[in-house]
Amino acid sequence: MLTLGVNIDHIATIRQARRTVEPDPVAAAVLAELGGADGITAHLREDRRHIQDRDIRLLRQTVRTHLNLEMAATEEMLGIALDVKPDYVTLVPEKREEVTTEGGLDIVGQIVRIGEIVDKLQGAGIPVSLFIDAEPAQIAASAKVQAKFIELHTGRYAEAQDETSRQHELALLATGCEQAIKAGLRVNAGHGLTYWNVYPVAALPGMEELNIGHTIISRAALVGMERAVREMKQAMSPR
Ligand code: PXP
Repeated sequence: MLTLGVNIDHIATIRQARRTVEPDPVAAAVLAELGGADGITAHLREDRRHIQDRDIRLLRQTVRTHLNLEMAATEEMLGIALDVKPDYVTLVPEKREEVTTEGGLDIVGQIVRIGEIVDKLQGAGIPVSLFIDAEPAQIAASAKVQAKFIELHTGRYAEAQDETSRQHELALLATGCEQAIKAGLRVNAGHGLTYWNVYPVAALPGMEELNIGHTIISRAALVGMERAVREMKQAMSPR
């Protein structure tokens, strides 16, 4: 069955804009689960621009579905993951200057280092997913390091400017998904998926989990606006 991992990073982005305590991503995770999320995803970035160490530790205790920790393949993050023990880890590339994750992780170019990190995490009972582009060489390298999962990067599909290139990117995702499953990998996907473009990816045979953040948090902000303003008017009124 296809599952939904809700990425709550943007809740923490709003909180960090004021360095205050609201909104709390831990509360958002509870509500996401009440709404039917099958998993909660959070990216602890090296620069701590949104999710903080405290969030990951509390999420570990409160998430009732599964917790997917997205992180860079660094020694610091490895230590945190081994300590916190999320249900799985997704290794992602990370650059300080980027607005969000750009491009998949290069497994081919750093196969020994990634292999070591995969071994350490999976040796400690934490399955690893590698966030990669749907390229045959990257998929083969992911199978070679024996990661349990890959997450196919859907960014190029999401950003395609016309129907022809969208169909081309979807076909690459479909082929990648098939190749990965044949190689013994389990397949997730994510990045840039929206209410409008999600279905063709959701319908790919063998796809297990979609990790979606921006579009859900954006919609939550808007569909919650009327109620939030109404409640403030009430709070301002004499009791
Ligand atoms: N998957 C990975 C590996 C990501 O880095 C992100 C963004 O943090 C997502 C999924 C979710 O992407 P979006 O916020 O565009 O839905």
